[in-house]
Amino acid sequence: MRRNVIVGQSGGPTAAINSSLAGVYRTAIDRGAKKVYGMLYGVEGLLSERYIDLADHIKSELDAELLKRTPAAFLGSCRFKLPEIFEDKSVYEKIFEVLDKLDIEAFIYIGGNDSMDTIKKLSDYAIVTGHNTKFIGCPKTIDNDLALTDHTPGYGSAAKYIGTSMKEIIRDSFCLAYDNGLVTIVEIMGRNAGWLTGAVALAKGEDSDGPDLIYLPEIPFDLDKFKEKVEKLLKERNSVVVAVSEGIKLKSGEYVCELGNNIDFVDAFGHKQLSGTATFLANFVAGEFGCKSRAIELSTLQRSASHAASRVDILEAYQVGGAAVKAADEGDTGKMVVLNRLSDDPYQCGTEVKDVHKIANDEKLVPRNWVDQEGTYVTNEFISYVKPLIQGDVSPIMVDGIPRHLYQPEELKCRNHKKRK
Ligand code: F6P
Repeated sequence: MRRNVIVGQSGGPTAAINSSLAGVYRTAIDRGAKKVYGMLYGVEGLLSERYIDLADHIKSELDAELLKRTPAAFLGSCRFKLPEIFEDKSVYEKIFEVLDKLDIEAFIYIGGNDSMDTIKKLSDYAIVTGHNTKFIGCPKTIDNDLALTDHTPGYGSAAKYIGTSMKEIIRDSFCLAYDNGLVTIVEIMGRNAGWLTGAVALAKGEDSDGPDLIYLPEIPFDLDKFKEKVEKLLKERNSVVVAVSEGIKLKSGEYVCELGNNIDFVDAFGHKQLSGTATFLANFVAGEFGCKSRAIELSTLQRSASHAASRVDILEAYQVGGAAVKAADEGDTGKMVVLNRLSDDPYQCGTEVKDVHKIANDEKLVPRNWVDQEGTYVTNEFISYVKPLIQGDVSPIMVDGIPRHLYQPEELKCRNHKKRK
């Protein structure tokens, strides 16, 4: 590498996204990049020329180790949809003006489906205009819904946290015998894909029965059937634990969370804010059965729990960051690094690059045959798939009893990129 690299983070954060950032930084330096810039708040910030020199923030090996263990996007993230080139060329002109000014050879974007849309559009624009910057996507999302990759960094750590928390919730819910029983509804992220929700089945083992019911967003939710199932379970036991995806929908297409609230926030990619599914269902069962109910939204905790991160996940996140830089250095553009699983046991996985046009804006869902006939539990295939991804631990660096993180860039505290330069 002879010139500079710029890296950005985009979309929902994870516990492993900064490990990819560390991998990009290390590999770019090792391959001879003069400077490695980090865009603040992704391309949205770049449009206002908001970036930092990563060397000012990663000053030692200890900083790099802390970065790998720091959750959330160190550089700040965005949900920003680039217009189509014919809609607004000025946005592209501005981005390429900044890239020229910084003498950027490789542009690495760490993100999910929507972020790969950015890589696709920028690499297309570069080819059409004869610009020689290389654009490579680095996969990241707790949702695990990116096409053409076996799994996405961030998923393993979130799955490990979800399986662990579910096991602890089940323990807690069984120790008090309420008169009419207790129904606990646990709501899990993942929008349209049930990979995260299915991970609750990891709570099942020799010392735990696991959750009673699991509802994935891929399968239409039937409120009457749900009621029948809970009623039957309440006759048999003190406590019923149900896992639901935030994105479960009725046959009509209406989100269950919309039955209980009027939130109509929609982001730049047209995604509705999903929240309140567990609250709606917990109120519903309390009303129907006069039982005690509890709604638990794992919410931000499931994607920021770096104290419970999976070692496999953190290592792979680092690896894909390095692979993205290598791909750009070898002349690739318009590609995304993918993880290619060779075997489950022993777990073996490698990286390669694939055309981002076949990945952007697509969604990989849980196969129907990885969910049981009734649509209320995942199968053993699902468990065999997820288990290798949650293996091993990454010890936090503890200071005064609390995990230490790499201090966030001072510049992040000001969110002024809305006013473009
Ligand atoms: O895309 C990742 C994700 O964590 C989804 O699972 C979730 O629906 C969404 O982000 C939440 O986004 P936000 O934090 O912007 O509300």
